[in-house]
Amino acid sequence: MLLSLQNIEAGYGKKKILNSISMDIEAGQVVALLGHNGAGKSTTLKSIMGDLKTTAGSISLNGKPMDRLSTTQRVKQGVRMLPEGRGVFADLSVGENIDVVAAANCTHATSLFTRDDVLSIFPVLAERLESRSGDLSGGQQQMLAFSLAILGNPALLLLDEPSVGLAPNLVERLLQQVRTVCKEKQVGAILVEQNVGAALEVSDYIVVLNAGEIVFRGTPEDARGTDFWEYF
Ligand SMILES: Nc1ncnc2c1ncn2[C@@H]1O[C@H](COP(=O)(O)OP(=O)(O)OP(=O)(O)O)[C@@H](O)[C@H]1O
Ligand SMILES: [Mg+2]
Repeated sequence: MLLSLQNIEAGYGKKKILNSISMDIEAGQVVALLGHNGAGKSTTLKSIMGDLKTTAGSISLNGKPMDRLSTTQRVKQGVRMLPEGRGVFADLSVGENIDVVAAANCTHATSLFTRDDVLSIFPVLAERLESRSGDLSGGQQQMLAFSLAILGNPALLLLDEPSVGLAPNLVERLLQQVRTVCKEKQVGAILVEQNVGAALEVSDYIVVLNAGEIVFRGTPEDARGTDFWEYF
């Protein structure tokens, strides 16, 4: 198993948010993590990234507990997060953004994704290499943020609403790229998504959170015939 969460709990100060969350992800799988605003989706990703300390339960990557690892150590193990909002250095050019992150992440002799790889996945970025990243369109910034997340050797991608603010056709294209990357390179992903329909199209299974608890889990097929839609 690539990632295993067992009964994790986490919160802010004395306020407990996540209540006994368990889920497993295999290499190559895309799991959609859905739910209302405030359900605990970002809190779950932050707990896996080590941004937030869990107060109970355990998190393991490839069978090894990660609970005591710092965020930096988790990144070295291949855990990568695309945070809510656009995770790019706005004042650097597109090329500089890629080079800075590649220098940090492409440290192994072999990388799953190099500078050339991300530019061939998103040719539009190759055309804008000299542009200030903050001047790109929202869609292009999200493509750049996703590119930065996969540079080097990612094992697990934590994607917090990568499609927010994008035009519908771009949402589909970006999420299809997420799926392709995961399937071709056997990377796992947790995809937090407001666009439930688009998430159903690209995910292998779905987890719905409500008030810090899992209220639904199943395949997109399972979701179509049930009370799944009541959660939105
Ligand atoms: N830094 C923080 N300090 C205190 N409470 C927080 C903090 N961040 C989030 N919360 C609270 O934790 C709960 C879960 O928030 P979280 O951000 O995980 O939700 P979410 O499912 O990602 O929602 P959204 O769809 O709005 O992004 C909410 O009640 C929120 O107010
Ligand atoms: Mg959130």
